[in-house]
Amino acid sequence: MKESPVMEWFEHDDFWEMTYPFMFPETRIEKAEEDILSVLSLCGIEKGDVLDLCCGPGRFSIPLARMGYSVTGVDATDFLLNIARNRASIENVEVEWIKEDMRRFLRSRSYDLVMNMFTSFGYFQDHSDNMIVLENVNESLRQGGKFVIEVMGKETLASIFQPVTDTETDEGLLLIQRHTIESGWNRIANDWLLIDNDSVLGRWKFSHWVYSAAELKNMLQEAGFSNLEVYGNLEGSPYNSESGRLVAVATAG
Ligand SMILES: C[S@@+](CC[C@H](N)C(=O)[O-])C[C@H]1O[C@@H](n2cnc3c(N)ncnc32)[C@H](O)[C@@H]1O
Repeated sequence: MKESPVMEWFEHDDFWEMTYPFMFPETRIEKAEEDILSVLSLCGIEKGDVLDLCCGPGRFSIPLARMGYSVTGVDATDFLLNIARNRASIENVEVEWIKEDMRRFLRSRSYDLVMNMFTSFGYFQDHSDNMIVLENVNESLRQGGKFVIEVMGKETLASIFQPVTDTETDEGLLLIQRHTIESGWNRIANDWLLIDNDSVLGRWKFSHWVYSAAELKNMLQEAGFSNLEVYGNLEGSPYNSESGRLVAVATAG
């Protein structure tokens, strides 16, 4: 794993804290309850040990624990892990919360399901670092265990791409996003500006990989997975020109 001398964008808690209202509005947190049922049905999992890798505020970990699964939530951001811990304690559910980088977390043959949801993959500049994540997931799953990964697919991004977008919360926070496609469609660069009335609260420039269905499948195969399937949403619709998301389901080898 390549250590960077400067902090990477995803290592800044203030990025996740300031953009929280856009990434994790209450409606998205509530929708996760329904989504988790779709994930379980897509993978044919009815009980067992689940790793929510890059769990954020516990959108999926908490309802899973409520349903009786034994859940480990791993994330690198204290701010989000604290929200997850508080929510779990209010709901009186047990989740094992671990602060760790997704490249480092490895627990051999311990899980029946690993989930990596809502574009939590492809953050590392070096392709080999992203591969380490997939190899660790394969090793952390029991033989035959399932991995679900959900991202914005390259095909979808190409069909909806806009160089500038803006989003406003009901409270009047405005997020302006500029997007540039980089390195021959391998990566997307983002420039986010967060404004509250007349004040700029923050500006973040960051980039990450975007994968086509074929690229993601190839990486999963290279990491040791088999039975690779891709879908256009968590309900299992085909991945095609109408798809909003790219969901891959793979079996640990
Ligand atoms: C877009 S959020 C998705 C959160 C969660 N999966 C969900 O669906 O609500 C991406 C998450 O990845 C986490 N993250 C970013 N870089 C990470 C790293 N290197 N290791 C572990 N977690 C990381 C962030 O803290 C954040 O919680």
